[in-house]
Amino acid sequence: MAKPKIILGIETSCDETAASIGIKTDDGVQVLSNVVASSLEIQAKYGGVVPEQAAREQLKSIIPVVEEALRQAQCKPPEINAIAITQGPGLIGSLLVGVETAKTLATVWDKPLIPVNHLVGHFYANWITDQQTANSLQTTARQKAVSRSQSAVNSPSFPALGLLVSGGHTDLIFMKDHGKYEYIGGTRDDAAGECFDKCARLLGLPYPGGPAISKLAKNGNPKAFSLPRPMIDSGDFDFSFSGLKTAMANIVHSSQFIVHSGNKKKESINHELITNNLAASIEAAIVDVLVKKTITAAKKYKVEQIIVAGGVAANQKLSETMARAAKLNSLSLFIPPPSLCTDNAAMIVSAAFYNPQAVDPLTLQANPSLSLSHN
Ligand code: KG4
Ligand code: ZN
Repeated sequence: MAKPKIILGIETSCDETAASIGIKTDDGVQVLSNVVASSLEIQAKYGGVVPEQAAREQLKSIIPVVEEALRQAQCKPPEINAIAITQGPGLIGSLLVGVETAKTLATVWDKPLIPVNHLVGHFYANWITDQQTANSLQTTARQKAVSRSQSAVNSPSFPALGLLVSGGHTDLIFMKDHGKYEYIGGTRDDAAGECFDKCARLLGLPYPGGPAISKLAKNGNPKAFSLPRPMIDSGDFDFSFSGLKTAMANIVHSSQFIVHSGNKKKESINHELITNNLAASIEAAIVDVLVKKTITAAKKYKVEQIIVAGGVAANQKLSETMARAAKLNSLSLFIPPPSLCTDNAAMIVSAAFYNPQAVDPLTLQANPSLSLSHN
């Protein structure tokens, strides 16, 4: 297959239905459209993703989402050189919707089909260099500052240290080259995003918990509660976040959390203050562990670049703290703008440009337990 210039990407690994069109440029990947439909209202109602419901919604939205991506990019199917699809990991019902759609489109339009590992895809959000698109995708002033201070280069190079922080993963990866990754550590129990989600639930906040906690944390004191920093000095690159959730549950169910003064108004103000402080304290605990272990790993593996990816990378405290630590250690840092951290199809397009191994559309199978070592 000749190197593709324009790729249509499809991503349906969890509850999002996403499609994107991207072009390969000399510097990286330019995104022409990036459409994400999410069943957020349904998630909020049930406090999380209900797999069968997610797949049903995706069946309804997949074709309109692909059509919208083509329309926004002002692109017609004959102009596309390849189709990229998330093969796994993820929810089987959701993956099947995307994979079977991509197989059908690749066959009918006669295009090469490139399977992409969702975890690898997250990292490749960092190769999307088109700032104009990123700006229109709600890049915050803070993250623009982070990207500018990183380095003069537009996209990362190898070797690099990768931190993947999402709802299901907290992994440290030694990235030697495109397609050459070595897992060096990861969570032994809950992922960082899962910890945010479970703690949010304890505080009565909606799903997804990360953005909800981060919003309250802005008005809280991160030192108000002394929470543990699990495994921060363990000497390896593993993580453990389930103890943090338990520590938080103990506080929520203790007398520190509910202060009865007999004055309802005062109680409500107190409750808000304590909730904000607890949100700030839990965010600080998670961020401290992630930053310390990532910097230690970068030094041990003697890399000059850190690449952060996944939904939790949208967290402002994490990106700011990581940026400060990276600067202090003369390391370049790459973090995508928030809209490219959470699940999207632009990252799948980007990964396909750099790993363009096409497969026979008729034989491709969705793989819910695909791991990074499959690449
Ligand atoms: O990468 P992602 O969209 O989906 C997976 O592949 O898992 O990550 C979702 C996770 C959720 O746990 C969510 O709470 C977390 O990312 N998240 C955040 C923020 N935005 C999303 N966590 C902390 N701060 C945020 N701003
Ligand atoms: Zn993801």
